[in-house]
Amino acid sequence: MSIQHRDGSDRINIAIDGPAGAGKSTVARTVAERLGYIYIDTGAMYRAVTLGICRNGIDVNSHADVAAAAASFDIVIRNDEGKQEVLLDGEQVTEEIRSREVNLLVSQVAANPAVRELLVDKQRRLALDKGVVMDGRDIGTKVLPEADLKIFLTASVEIRAERRFLEAGTTQQITLEQLRQEIAARDKMDQERAVSPLTRASDALVVDSSHLSIEQVVEHIIDLGRTKLAGAK
Ligand code: DC
Repeated sequence: MSIQHRDGSDRINIAIDGPAGAGKSTVARTVAERLGYIYIDTGAMYRAVTLGICRNGIDVNSHADVAAAAASFDIVIRNDEGKQEVLLDGEQVTEEIRSREVNLLVSQVAANPAVRELLVDKQRRLALDKGVVMDGRDIGTKVLPEADLKIFLTASVEIRAERRFLEAGTTQQITLEQLRQEIAARDKMDQERAVSPLTRASDALVVDSSHLSIEQVVEHIIDLGRTKLAGAK
């Protein structure tokens, strides 16, 4: 399956932004798989920096120390047969970047302008050859403002908390209500930060996944891509 771009190439860049738990990563990964594109999870990069900060005992409030540490880390996002792997200084940290400790600190690290500058530059370089589905918070507004298709994927806080609760399984010692509050707090921080806040790009298409399955959202995005590009020819 491919989408034909109006310049004749059959690769486009797709930006998917939205709040935590809207289904961005599963949707973006599946869209990329269907189109034979590369999936880039930019949240994983902020998470890897945050893990490095935690491991090195750096105070997240010390902007200069966080910036210096972030610049020293070697972060690699690798796609291995459709599975994403994240490496921090050569070590596999794919699971560890999803820990609660990282969840609680990542928004603060992501609000650091120097960290953002570093990662945005890396993200842009990864998208130069097109054929990329990138998800995050500022992809359509800041990282890839020229992306051919921009989606703002959202869902209600309640539904997003429920999804995260089910994902965490019985091992996580956290209630649904605690999760809902953490997600709401993270939304607020991501939306209100001074640098690249989470906002919908004016040309992004809104998709509300509250009452849609992953498959329905994926199909919808692929259809939107086709319609948009056919109209532009
Ligand atoms: O999508 P996620 O939950 O893995 O993102 C982790 C954090 O990183 C979240 O607090 C928002 C932030 N983030 C960001 O500021 N910009 C991005 N492009 C991606 C994530």
